[in-house]
Amino acid sequence: MTMDRLENIDACVFDAYGTLFDVNAAAQHCAAELGDKWQPLAELWRGRQLQYTWLRSLMEEYADFWQVTGEALDFAMEALDIHDDALRERLMELYLKLDAYEEVGGVLRRLRNGGMKTAILSNGSPRMLGAAVDNAGLGEVLDAVISVDQIKVYKTAPAVYQLAVDQLGVAASAISFQSSNAWDAHAASNFGFRVVWVNRFAQARERLPGNPDIMLDNLEPLPAIVGM
Ligand code: LAC
Repeated sequence: MTMDRLENIDACVFDAYGTLFDVNAAAQHCAAELGDKWQPLAELWRGRQLQYTWLRSLMEEYADFWQVTGEALDFAMEALDIHDDALRERLMELYLKLDAYEEVGGVLRRLRNGGMKTAILSNGSPRMLGAAVDNAGLGEVLDAVISVDQIKVYKTAPAVYQLAVDQLGVAASAISFQSSNAWDAHAASNFGFRVVWVNRFAQARERLPGNPDIMLDNLEPLPAIVGM
């Protein structure tokens, strides 16, 4: 992770949850009801949500990300002894309208105005991604919103990253992939993308195949990195 420029990039592809959209926002918006449980709930919910995607992929038991997200929430609420059906519904509705991180709209606009192709590549179901993109007003600055749902397997399967190559018509080596999820950044690098790890939460480096090219705190420097 030494370079500060990525050359010959034709498309910037983004992970959605945690990278463009704040996955903690749903629980945080219910902080009044949840009290000091909002953070443990957010962490347990997200943790189980991801584990269930990996485990279901290994089991060859795909269910879409909306179902997985709901089941992860049910686990997290029970584990924290929260029994409130109305709150569950509210948290799920909020998950459809997660806040975008503040720099996201401006960065996508600069990339797009500079002639870069832009896309989301996410575990999210098409309905979830559509709702999040609409809510954040990002539809006009994205060329494609690509969901794993069409192949019914989750990241880190290489077939997921191949979707971006096929649907954008851009070689893997000319794609800059941005993710705040370190495991996703490693897998995308191992697949053959150039990778910017957006280390929003100052996490330690993963010990996994792949080697992200650049690490950032947020997406702000990305246009300069890809030569805009
Ligand atoms: C996604 C998850 C990994 O958007 O955050 O694909």
